[in-house]
Amino acid sequence: MLNIVVMVSGGGTNLQAIIDAIADGRIHDTRIARVISNKKDAYALERAKNAGIDAVAVARADHGSREEFDRALLAAMDEAEPDLVVLAGFLVVLSPEIIRKYKGRIINIHPSLIPSFCGEGFYGLKVHEEALKRGVKVTGATVHFVDEGCDTGPIITQKAVEVEPGDTPEILQRRVMEQAEWIILPETIDRIAKGSITLKEEKK
Ligand code: GRF
Repeated sequence: MLNIVVMVSGGGTNLQAIIDAIADGRIHDTRIARVISNKKDAYALERAKNAGIDAVAVARADHGSREEFDRALLAAMDEAEPDLVVLAGFLVVLSPEIIRKYKGRIINIHPSLIPSFCGEGFYGLKVHEEALKRGVKVTGATVHFVDEGCDTGPIITQKAVEVEPGDTPEILQRRVMEQAEWIILPETIDRIAKGSITLKEEKK
């Protein structure tokens, strides 16, 4: 059984895609041990509770320093003993200590075809605004391993999505989620559960 922790900050549609894929068998031998949010009011936490999954919030405002917050985040992860950590719309840059401890076992979903429209400041609608501003005809989503950089880790899988005339950032964001993100993130977790993608380092 693959034990995963899903880290979120917002609405949680990617979390829901994972929950649904485990429920209907598209993801095999996998259990969401915990959902962790840095935002107490993230709707993703509601989705977890509705699915009977342990859900915790670790908020920066509740900690005296960034270091204390990072330690609390790591403790919340460690308690769940994950084989794999999934960043699903998690908008916090992980500390070097967390990266060191879980390196090769953390994946992230990004709403563009990396290396386009990624890196510092490229998250949420901003990614789609820039794609439309640049006038690209094709965009998409990427699942990659997380390393010390921002969206710089080894790419695991990508899926392209057409940009259509009249697209707004909101319309494009929704299509990229429906036609790419909610498909490739569950697929990637299933491939890891089946061992067709190997995690670089065992639990420490
Ligand atoms: C998604 O577009 C994801 O690719 C990005 O943040 C968004 C989160 O959406 N990193 P949700 O919270 O999963 O609905």
